[in-house]
Amino acid sequence: MHTITDPQELQRQCLAWRSQGLTIGLVPTMGYLHEGHMALMRHARPRCDKLVVSIFVNPSQFGPGEDLDKYPRDHEGDSAKSAACGADLLFLPASEAMYATDHATWIDVPELGRHLCGASRPGHFRGVCTVVAKLFMLAMPHLAVFGRKDWQQMAIIRRMTRDLNIPVEIIGHEIVREADGLALSSRNAYLEPEERAAAPAIRRGLVKLAEMLHKGERDPKVAKRFLHDEFATALPMGKVDYIELVDPENITPVSAVTGPVLAAVAVRIGRARLIDNILIEV
Ligand code: PAJ
Repeated sequence: MHTITDPQELQRQCLAWRSQGLTIGLVPTMGYLHEGHMALMRHARPRCDKLVVSIFVNPSQFGPGEDLDKYPRDHEGDSAKSAACGADLLFLPASEAMYATDHATWIDVPELGRHLCGASRPGHFRGVCTVVAKLFMLAMPHLAVFGRKDWQQMAIIRRMTRDLNIPVEIIGHEIVREADGLALSSRNAYLEPEERAAAPAIRRGLVKLAEMLHKGERDPKVAKRFLHDEFATALPMGKVDYIELVDPENITPVSAVTGPVLAAVAVRIGRARLIDNILIEV
């Protein structure tokens, strides 16, 4: 595996691959890689000739007071894990290389960013869209894999890609979990042991909510109240940021459950803000 830090060099390499008729797969990440990220790489590996993994803690998607400076980093470990998953190229740019001091162009999909994480993290998805569009311009991938853990992010990137006619296939990958159900996240590293022990209640609550809808409940208010109560009991140290039932594509809250619905939550536990979701087909 080859490591590149210069964006222009990445672009040159990917152009050369394209001109040789080779297909390129991209897995964008912010590093501190875990089995969730690695599952995306393993999924991409057989679907392309050249697999590019990017690791970039993108400053423009962090709000003031968020964990940009504290975001965990482990370049050596990340490099070994990417190589073990068959990456051909690791792209590790410096912040200055990605954003000129007078960077002035932004991509935003505001309609899909009004709720869930978009509501609690203003400007977050604008930063995500902009950096992902830049990565698409640099790596020119035929396909890119995103995790369903960040469902809203995946939906927004899908829409951006369609609306801007970017010739890349967006592939969604299921959420990878610990044995006790907690969704893997680089931010799980922030959890104290007792917080870590309680955190699987997030997934348990979502599964119970899904059962409730499968049994016939159709009122989102009732379902949301149920989950608030569940978390109050099973996760007393958790502070609910949001509990929402939304249309899976448009990410707008539903007033009644009449078709597939995404139940999505964000909960603060100690220093960590954890998100999870479940797609419920009724
Ligand atoms: P990051 O949080 O590092 O996640 C990189 C990719 O891994 C995303 O597509 C995310 O959904 C996926 N992922 C994380 N945890 C997962 C899990 N437990 N199961 C399945 N997939 C998981 O998301 C970002 O970085 C950034 O916003 C980025 C897209 C790289 C833009 O900066």
